[in-house]
Amino acid sequence: MRGTRPQLTDPFRIADVEISNRVLLAPLAGIGNWFVRLQAKRFGAGLAVSEMVSSFGLHHRNERTLRELMRIHPDEHPVSVQLFGHDAEVMRSGAAIAAEAGADLIDINMGCPVRKVRRTGAGAELLRDHELALALARGAAEGSGLPVTVKLRSGIAAGDRSGFELAIRLAEEGGVAAIAFHPRVAAVGHKGSPDYELTRELVERVEVPVIVSGGLKSAAAARAAYEESGAAAVMIARGSLGNPWVFEELTGARTEPPDRAEVVAELLWTIDRAEEHLGSDRANRYLRKFYPWYVERLGAGPELTDELHRSADLPEARRLIADLAAPEPASRL
Ligand SMILES: Cc1cc2nc3c(=O)[nH]c(=O)nc-3n(C[C@H](O)[C@H](O)[C@H](O)COP(=O)(O)O)c2cc1C
Repeated sequence: MRGTRPQLTDPFRIADVEISNRVLLAPLAGIGNWFVRLQAKRFGAGLAVSEMVSSFGLHHRNERTLRELMRIHPDEHPVSVQLFGHDAEVMRSGAAIAAEAGADLIDINMGCPVRKVRRTGAGAELLRDHELALALARGAAEGSGLPVTVKLRSGIAAGDRSGFELAIRLAEEGGVAAIAFHPRVAAVGHKGSPDYELTRELVERVEVPVIVSGGLKSAAAARAAYEESGAAAVMIARGSLGNPWVFEELTGARTEPPDRAEVVAELLWTIDRAEEHLGSDRANRYLRKFYPWYVERLGAGPELTDELHRSADLPEARRLIADLAAPEPASRL
């Protein structure tokens, strides 16, 4: 089995959806909008998953949810839309609307550890209610007519394997087409070492592709987890923030880190897309979370992030960044 292991560059399928390689962008709340996904695709990701979207927001046709979170760029396909919720009927209708908006796959969030989400019975709370979790998966498939995947944790608290058990049921009884497995328990949030051995157990136990998430902070870490877990694909989360080059590294398109001009150009591209998406004022605020990632990649100090955070408008932010494109270190660095 290990001898015939596919390369990360080999295609695979989630039900009838062909994915061109095994390097995926993870869902990232507040981040994984159409242009972040498009960026990942431009740099070679086989599939990008949206930030989590409320099934209730879709069901009630919330205007901003539809206009902003359901925006899909034509070059993104195939794209997966991740939904969260705790009501199978609402999930059915939300998934139908996501399909109408152009999703190729629906993913259901069963891993979010955030209290606000869990309090409603959604996210990782579903690890406690397997019947509801199964009903959500079936509802999403019926409503959308699309393959449904689930992203979940290994358990709730240390030693608990309820997520592992649920993943098996979702694959065997819930008709789920793939499992994205984050082998950390919800109680630890995003800290600690993911359990890739447990991922391997799941891989050996279910017929559907298992996608590994967690701890993939660099291309080397992702390759190691791919080998150790035996998963069908890797899903890059924090390792992709301000670092779309990780997709090129993992798909063999790049061996050297980007130079300063490339990083600057990419940040400017991101600013342009954010402005296109949100308008100038909202983009200026929204981009504050993006700046530290790129500033760090540029090897610049936190004072540059501070300056960017204080910039009055996007032209000022662009000027500060464009200054950094000079081949010689700029005076501020
Ligand atoms: C800022 C942030 C937002 C996230 N949002 C989501 C989300 O919307 N849906 C989801 O299933 N996981 C979400 N996650 C979890 C990631 O997809 C991933 O499973 C986790 O970060 C572990 O991978 P890593 O250790 O490589 O970062 C989020 C993580 C972070 C850091």
